[in-house]
Amino acid sequence: MSIREVATKAYDDQKPGTSGLRKKVPVFQQAGYAENFIQSIFDSLDGFAGTALVIGGDGRFYNREVIQTAIRMAAANGFGTIIVGRGGIFSTPAASHIIRHYGAFGGIILSASHNPGGPNEDFGIKYNISNGGPAPEKVTDAIYARSRTIGRYLTLDTPDVDLDREGDTRVGDATVRIIDPVADYAALMEKLFDFSAIRKLIDGGFRIAFDAMSAVTGPYATEILEGRLGAARGTVRNGIPLPDFGGHHPDPNLVHAKDLYDEMMGPDAPDFGAASDGDGDRNLIIGKGIFITPSDSLAMLAANAHLAPGYARGLAGIARSMPTSGAADRVAEQLGLPLFETPTGWKFFGNLLDAGKATICGEESAGTGSDHVREKDGLWAVLLWLNILAVRQESVRAIAEDHWARFGRNYYARHDYEGVDSSAADALIAELRGRLPALPGTSIGALRIQASDDFAYLDPVDGSQSARQGIRILFEGGSRIVFRLSGTGTTGATIRVYIERYEAVGGDLARETGDAIADLIVAAEELSGIERHTGRTAPDVVT
Ligand code: G1P
Ligand code: ZN
Repeated sequence: MSIREVATKAYDDQKPGTSGLRKKVPVFQQAGYAENFIQSIFDSLDGFAGTALVIGGDGRFYNREVIQTAIRMAAANGFGTIIVGRGGIFSTPAASHIIRHYGAFGGIILSASHNPGGPNEDFGIKYNISNGGPAPEKVTDAIYARSRTIGRYLTLDTPDVDLDREGDTRVGDATVRIIDPVADYAALMEKLFDFSAIRKLIDGGFRIAFDAMSAVTGPYATEILEGRLGAARGTVRNGIPLPDFGGHHPDPNLVHAKDLYDEMMGPDAPDFGAASDGDGDRNLIIGKGIFITPSDSLAMLAANAHLAPGYARGLAGIARSMPTSGAADRVAEQLGLPLFETPTGWKFFGNLLDAGKATICGEESAGTGSDHVREKDGLWAVLLWLNILAVRQESVRAIAEDHWARFGRNYYARHDYEGVDSSAADALIAELRGRLPALPGTSIGALRIQASDDFAYLDPVDGSQSARQGIRILFEGGSRIVFRLSGTGTTGATIRVYIERYEAVGGDLARETGDAIADLIVAAEELSGIERHTGRTAPDVVT
């Protein structure tokens, strides 16, 4: 089979963001656009001849087309085995596991996570390295640099592979192996968690509602919750992955999973509600009548993880992204564990996990995970919660209230201003940055600023540095406001404002969040002038 070298012109907008390259589908449909990026990935890697590459995606619009392209290009570039999920499907955490489990060189994951899908919506390509985690910045920088000068890509003239039939076929000199996307992942979950305890809980009448949001976790959740754990049929809703996610945002938050939320707050609520996003790495956890913020969920999972067999030996450490609330810090403090504060994005956890410094990691954006893979993992979080509930035999609410009584409570909300004019958003951040040195010691109402900075991170494992990762305003008593711009959007800018009030043990732990942080919301506007810069008087999304 002769390899075809195709001349191409470079694009100048292929800089990977927080999590890979994300653009609208029509952008990816431009001549050579996906091919250039995939070839730039291969051109930035060394020593993969004859090794295995994993390819899969979240099933969104354009997934199958790019998978066929990537298979041909991987074969033409010299990979020996190409492992693809049946139907072109792998959830992001499952892809991470498959890379590790089969000792692959790396993986190409096709996803734009929680962003909408469809002919005019979002698509994405991300490269993960051999530890199963997102490529670190030095790799993504190299890919971007290559994409700006690329002049050719390599492919083969071969027919499409039948993605729906498991088994091996040849493409050029490579073996393409179509595998069940769920089986290996489900087996890993059975190793980590006490499935028989969870099954007993469910047999005893414990009711679960899981919303797969017409995205990739449908087949995983159906097999694990209904198949292996005996939950009633219908426990998994919207369980068939659709190319446009049924026209919804597959983002498991209180806005986009509102039906689930309303049900969980209603009179006949199930005992446990959960949802996951487009590619299966995020999670939403709601108990009967109580929403658990992702930051609290991280802290509660860390405090109770030893109740699951996979974590019975305890944790090496806890890591959280900077904007995530300090709830996990309180747990680390009491348990005598190291706590790592990293910039936003899962890629920063990889080194800590590889080095055995952290066991559990989390982000306020509904991402939680552990060292079992190198991505955040939505179903993993659901199963760890179920394992804890099965052992403690208490409700989600009881576990949460007990947690706050032990560690204090971090009231927390994130306010997003979406589709803002990019230059207005940049001006807002630049102005805040300019004011940073003068802020400490000043007050806004009763709130006294203790410190303020633009967060910078020094990776304790490889010494790499990341500057300008978000503006932090820290108040006396542990309250905080953080401002940063999103790195995953595809239109305009998104300003994220993270607001947090810490209430210590003995304080009022049962307030409404909105009420507890009201003065900080006023302070955020006073500090940043969002209305002055953008004309916006209220956030688009509050989570
Ligand atoms: C967002 C989240 C971040 C997460 C990322 C990928 O990034 O804030 O925590 O890692 O999506 O899921 P952002 O848009 O804020 O750059
Ligand atoms: Zn995701």
